[in-house]
Amino acid sequence: MKAMRYHESGGAEVLRYEEVPDPEPGPVDVVVDVVAAALNRLDVVQRNGWFTLPGFTLPHIAGMDVAGVVSEVGPEVDGVAVGDRVVVDPSLAGADGRSKLGGRGRSHGEPVIIGATADGGYAERCLAPASHVYPVPHAMSLEAAATFPTCWLAAAHGLFEVGGLAAGETVMVHAAGSGVSVAAVQFAVNAGATVLATAGTDEKCRRALELGAAHVLNNRSGDVAEWAREVTAGAGVDMVFDHVGTALFGSSLLALGIGGRLVSCGNSSGDEAVVPSLGYVFRSGIKILGSGHYRPEEFGPAWDTFCAGGFTAAVDSVFELADAAEAQAKMLDSDFFGKILLKP
Ligand SMILES: NC(=O)c1ccc[n+]([C@@H]2O[C@H](COP(=O)([O-])OP(=O)(O)OC[C@H]3O[C@@H](n4cnc5c(N)ncnc54)[C@H](OP(=O)(O)O)[C@@H]3O)[C@@H](O)[C@H]2O)c1
Repeated sequence: MKAMRYHESGGAEVLRYEEVPDPEPGPVDVVVDVVAAALNRLDVVQRNGWFTLPGFTLPHIAGMDVAGVVSEVGPEVDGVAVGDRVVVDPSLAGADGRSKLGGRGRSHGEPVIIGATADGGYAERCLAPASHVYPVPHAMSLEAAATFPTCWLAAAHGLFEVGGLAAGETVMVHAAGSGVSVAAVQFAVNAGATVLATAGTDEKCRRALELGAAHVLNNRSGDVAEWAREVTAGAGVDMVFDHVGTALFGSSLLALGIGGRLVSCGNSSGDEAVVPSLGYVFRSGIKILGSGHYRPEEFGPAWDTFCAGGFTAAVDSVFELADAAEAQAKMLDSDFFGKILLKP
C-alpha cells in the first residue's frame, strides 16, 4: 500500500510517499481501508522532533484520526465485519493481548496511540484492534467521523472528567477554530454551559458564534481577562479550557472567578508560563488542572453523543495523501477552521 512515512525527523522534506507492506490483522484485529484521516498538531511536532511521545519510533506513519471501511478481519473477531464503516479509537489502552497492537496498552506510563506511537492513518490502510473501532451511522460521512477521535475526546475529557463542567457554568475556550476547541465549544454548549470563545482572527470569532459561543473576542487585539470580567458582570469565568499555553496563560488565570479551574490540555504557543499573581491564585482558590489522557471507556459515550446529532464536524479542507506536506504547512500557519483531512 501507499503511505506517507518518515524515516528521520525534520521539516516537510522528510515525508516520503512510498510503498510499505500492507498491515495484516492479528486474531482480534481489523484492517481499515482509510477513507479520511485528520491532521493534528502532534503530527508536525513529532515529525520535526520537537517532542515525541514515549514509545515513539522511526520510521513512522502519522495519523491518529482515522475513518474508513473494514477490509479484513482477524479469525477471532466478533461483531465487526468486512464492509463496516468505522471510526477508530486511537488510544490503545485496554487493547486485547491477542491484538498485534495489544499488550502495548501502556508504554512508559502512557497509552500507545495509533498514529502517534504506532503506525496510523496517513496511509491507504490502517491496523486496529476490533475492540477499538466504532460503527459510523449511515447519515454521517466518513470525513465527518474522521474529525472526531482525538479532538472531541480531548475536549470531553478536559471539560467534564477533569474540569467537572456543569450546566449553567461559564467556560472560556481559546483558539476556537482549532480542532480541539471546535469540539470543546460545542460539547460545552450542549452540556448547558455558557461559552466565551477567543480566537486569533475576527473571522474565526464569527465562526465560533455559529458553533454556539455566546461571546467572542479576538485574543490578539483584546484583553482576555478584562473582557471576561465585562461579560460576566465582574464575576469571572468558572473555567478556562486552554491548549494555547504560554501566550494566554496569565490572562486566563486572571479571567477566572472565585474557585475557578484552568484546564490545560496543550501548549501550542510555548511550554513556559508565568503566574501573574500567586496572591490571586491562593486567595481565590484557583485550580490549575492538567488534563492527562482519556480512559478507554470514555470513547463510546462521547461518540454516542456526537452521533446523536446537532454538532458541526467543521471540515476545513481535504488534501490528497500525497500532498500531506502542504496540508501540514497549512495547519502550522493556523490557516484553517476545524480539521484538515487527508484522503488516500
Ligand atoms: N491532551 C490531549 O489529549 C490533547 C489532544 C489533542 C490535542 N492536544 C493539544 O491541544 C493543542 C491543540 O491541538 P489542535 O490539534 O486543536 O491544534 P490546532 O488545531 O493546530 O490549533 C492550535 C491553535 O492554537 C492557536 N495559537 C497558536 N499560537 C498562538 C498564540 N501565540 N496565541 C494565541 N493562540 C495561538 C491558534 O489559534 P488561532 O488561529 O485562533 O490563533 C491555532 O490555530 C495542541 O497543543 C495539542 O498537542 C491535546
